[in-house]
Amino acid sequence: MSTIRFLTGITTSGTPHLGNYVGSIRPAVAASLRPGVESYYFLADYHALIKIDEPARIQRSTLEIAASWLAAGLDPARVVFYRQSDVPEIPELTWFLTCVTGKGVLNRAHAYKASVDKNLAADADPDADVTAGLFMYPVLMGADILMFNAHHVPVGRDQIQHIEMARDMAHSFNHRYGEHFVAPQAAIEESVATLPGLDGRKMSKSYDNTIPLFAPRTELKKLIASIKTDSRAPGEAKSTEGSALFQIYQAFASAEETAAFAQDFAHGIAWGEAKDKLFERIDREIAPMRERYEWLMAHPEEVEALLHAGAAKARAVATPFMARLRQAVGLRGLDASSGTATAKAAKVAAASFKQYREKDGQFYFKLVDAKGTLLLQSRGFASPKDAGTAIGQIKQQGLSAISAMQAQLDGTQADAATLQAALDSMQSDAA
Ligand code: TRP
Repeated sequence: MSTIRFLTGITTSGTPHLGNYVGSIRPAVAASLRPGVESYYFLADYHALIKIDEPARIQRSTLEIAASWLAAGLDPARVVFYRQSDVPEIPELTWFLTCVTGKGVLNRAHAYKASVDKNLAADADPDADVTAGLFMYPVLMGADILMFNAHHVPVGRDQIQHIEMARDMAHSFNHRYGEHFVAPQAAIEESVATLPGLDGRKMSKSYDNTIPLFAPRTELKKLIASIKTDSRAPGEAKSTEGSALFQIYQAFASAEETAAFAQDFAHGIAWGEAKDKLFERIDREIAPMRERYEWLMAHPEEVEALLHAGAAKARAVATPFMARLRQAVGLRGLDASSGTATAKAAKVAAASFKQYREKDGQFYFKLVDAKGTLLLQSRGFASPKDAGTAIGQIKQQGLSAISAMQAQLDGTQADAATLQAALDSMQSDAA
């Protein structure tokens, strides 16, 4: 079975808050534990440079975010967890993608357009205070995603446009240079709530209404006490509708706990008491993680070592892939063994399907490796089209198609690893 790759980045521009935890960290950690899923999670520190020019803050945020993810249960042995700037292939790919992306497409990116609109409204030059970094933001993000051929990209709704742009970049590049990139899809978790902040608006750094994920207990308690409520007195029934307090509770509680809390509201719980309950519920989930977080913050060298190991895993994929891409676009050595010569050699080395008709009048196919060794043998098909369809399925779905069509295959069959290697050799040949 082929694995599904998930990838997402977190800009290292701040301190994680409860909204980040509920909206991204918690679901991503859960997703990374599902079988058949390969996860790439990274610290987008190149992206942070676009909005932050305080070096110490970027460094601090990188540590805080990495420690938060690890404390929340991310297992660096199961996922590829790395820092974007440890993978120099990413800026290199950014340039390749820059050269296949229409400038007009970037003109329409929401973040850039918002800055231009603001300038126009203020009668300023449309590009006043807009760096080329902000303008190029979607291309860097496209490189993040395409570098690892991610299928699904869990993001907030505000990022959907960027994923669509990455798809366009994949298509433009593939169109020019052959099938190298998978077209990624945004994965929007419908069930994940956006958390309201202290003032009832969406919890966000830009509204200054956040509760830091790992605030010490006393601070957490104080912040929760400052969540905006209405002026209903103790004993008066309270509405759960539109209550930030209730919504935050719901994001941490089970369905039964939430129903009981709604009962408390109906029965006129005092706001102070409701806040205590919310505090206890959040702290129950966070406290064990907080301990780990504090330990990691006190041991940055441990976090650094984990990120280094993650970067090595990421580069084990990125370095050979980038070498192929360089080859594909024509950045090649000039000696005879490079370029077209290598392409020809690769062709010879690739396995291939052969289709033929037997004396019995039926149509067959077989898979042979570069040396002509038989790897897979079909039984007879009534028409060449049927045989062709079966080949197509194997090419597209790989081993899973082979196991699904055992009835149409005869006993001759190489082991799974050999078959996979043969199929892979055809892939890179087509590319
Ligand atoms: N732009 C994303 C954000 O601000 C962060 C990010 C950078 C990202 N590169 C990415 C997200 C690649 C997903 C995939 O939220």
